[in-house]
Amino acid sequence: MSHIVEINDLKKLAQKRVPRMFFDYVDSGSWSESTYRANEDDFSNIKLRQRVAVDISNRSVASEMIGHSVAMPVALAPIGLMGLQHANGEILAAQACEDFGVPFTLSTMSICSIEDVAKNTNTPFWFQLYVMRDRKFNEALMARADAAGCSALVVTLDLQVLGHRYKDTRNGLSAPSRLSPKRLCQLMMRPRWCTGMAATKRRTFGNIVGHAQGVRDVSSLSAWVAEQFDPTLSWEDIAWIRRLWPGKLILKGIMDVTDAKIAADTGADAIIVSNHGGRQLDGAPSSISALPDISAAVGEKIEVHMDGGIRSGQDVLKALCLGAKGVYIGRAATYGLGALGKEGVTQALEIIRGELDLTMAMCGVKNVSDLGVHNCSYLSKLS
Ligand code: FNR
Repeated sequence: MSHIVEINDLKKLAQKRVPRMFFDYVDSGSWSESTYRANEDDFSNIKLRQRVAVDISNRSVASEMIGHSVAMPVALAPIGLMGLQHANGEILAAQACEDFGVPFTLSTMSICSIEDVAKNTNTPFWFQLYVMRDRKFNEALMARADAAGCSALVVTLDLQVLGHRYKDTRNGLSAPSRLSPKRLCQLMMRPRWCTGMAATKRRTFGNIVGHAQGVRDVSSLSAWVAEQFDPTLSWEDIAWIRRLWPGKLILKGIMDVTDAKIAADTGADAIIVSNHGGRQLDGAPSSISALPDISAAVGEKIEVHMDGGIRSGQDVLKALCLGAKGVYIGRAATYGLGALGKEGVTQALEIIRGELDLTMAMCGVKNVSDLGVHNCSYLSKLS
């Protein structure tokens, strides 16, 4: 589609195609949304160093994340309910990532199950784990992810209690409820979405329903989630997970140098500097502003990744310059999925790759792996 030239075009198209309550679920942060906004705004406040007359032929954006080769250092962040943006959403997004050569991370709270995504892809994907009170269920999830060939486990640490997102409450998404006339009307205004959903069996939490005791449908699941996310989560639990999980381990949701130093001693392979896309602690700094100090404190010891607010290849370049070895995109890819399914995720990745490559050229950089705080700064100093 020729009218899609930037991520924002995918967002606009997604808004037209995805029922309002599910679009709002993605395009929202907690409380005043100040952290959600800061994640994007702080990127635009960082300026780049324009360089000229440097050989910029034969550029490469290929790199590595936790030892895996990636077509560019941009993975898909775990997104709960992705399969409600578009029928079979997680499978389509995973396939787009596989074709493109970047990692896909499947959320615990996905619609398509671990096994279903594995069956419909050939490349190992990453699995994101929430720590629940029911440790047996956590153990089973890890065993399932391992059996499905997942090559990394991403443990999310910043959602043991849920931030209040007003839009979800207003749309009736935060509590179990029957289809109200308002919600029915929102669905009927999106016939293409409804046709897709009618044609798939994947409409509930695939990793949980039928696997966790007593959970038979989404309405009993809401109550179950509120009861299940474990507020006692501690670093001992991470040690327990490290012992159980045989593959690469990534800790997500680190925003503080003190926590980063503890995380670096857990035996994990990487941390993700993340505030959950501004959906949890409203008032927390943007991820990009937290990145430099964390990278300086632990970057020699553990791989540092980041997410939050990335909407362009320029943003990726800035994050790499400030110490991230790789980044994740959440909403940028999810808008693509809602707009155009698999093709939309591919387009989101292509847009970002194109922008990253050209911006590297204008900054006089040939290889994406040359970016980074330890080599040279490609950022302009603000006066
Ligand atoms: C998320 N995020 C998230 N994180 C996680 O660990 N497990 C999950 O299930 C979800 N679900 C989820 C749903 C939606 C709709 C959004 C927007 C985000 C957080 C996500 O992985 C990531 O940290 C942010 O999305 C990054 O910010 P951007 O790229 O969306 O700005």
